[in-house]
Amino acid sequence: HPLMAVSCRYVILLGAPGAGKGTQAQVLQERTGLVQVSSGDLLREQVRQGTELGRKAKELMDRGELVPDHVVIGMILERVQPCDGVAGYMLDGFPRTTAQAVALDRALEARGGRIERVLYIEVPDEELVRRLTGRWSCPQCGAVYHEVNSPPKGAGVCDRCGATLAQREDDRAETVRTRLAKQRPPDALIAYYEGRSVLRRVDGTRGVDEVSAELERALGT
Ligand code: AP5
Repeated sequence: HPLMAVSCRYVILLGAPGAGKGTQAQVLQERTGLVQVSSGDLLREQVRQGTELGRKAKELMDRGELVPDHVVIGMILERVQPCDGVAGYMLDGFPRTTAQAVALDRALEARGGRIERVLYIEVPDEELVRRLTGRWSCPQCGAVYHEVNSPPKGAGVCDRCGATLAQREDDRAETVRTRLAKQRPPDALIAYYEGRSVLRRVDGTRGVDEVSAELERALGT
């Protein structure tokens, strides 16, 4: 019976580079069972594997530019399959443009799904610069740290899996400036989701735990 079908949840984390999307996706993934799908992580995986997509993407990512819509859309839609044993998906870093949002809506509609919530984590530029230039992450398990705000227990080593932490190529100060200039969520994208009454704004300047609590409230779980 169609009404008995288990629904699959689709939630989006929106925010400028460094707003805390990845950090929060990992917390919320544990608490809600929604699976994190990060467009940045998927692209970096392609870079590591040395695929053609990865080679083309790397050049743009290193300059702080967006990767073309069709590339990212194809990659995400392949990963976000109908729920099969999972509660749903939490998209981190996608969509970034209205074209991406429209493509996602079409794909979800075709399978009877829809976006439940778009959580917009708001943080001012000067704080974003501090966060990005102090970030260290685990190339193995994806855990994210900050040299001042949330340092690992052992210097340079991942608490979770013991791998050596690394700084991202695109977190150099000049590239951070380009990313902030070019990759803040565009007004048209915000308006697109406001028009669908799914957008909730969350103050991202507070501590990680406070932001998580507010996101959970906004999510209604
Ligand atoms: P992507 O990897 O998505 O990078 P981004 O959007 O720039 O986001 P970040 O991962 O830098 O930041 P975040 O919001 O996840 O913050 P985090 O939690 O790490 O994309 C990389 C590139 O891929 C793009 O430049 C583009 O080229 C391409 N790309 C990706 N998606 C695309 C798309 N859809 N279309 C086209 N191109 C695409 O936190 C940052 C730091 O702050 C950490 O050190 C963390 O410990 C710290 N921190 C987090 N929360 C707090 C807090 N509450 N208080 C204090 N510190 C905190």
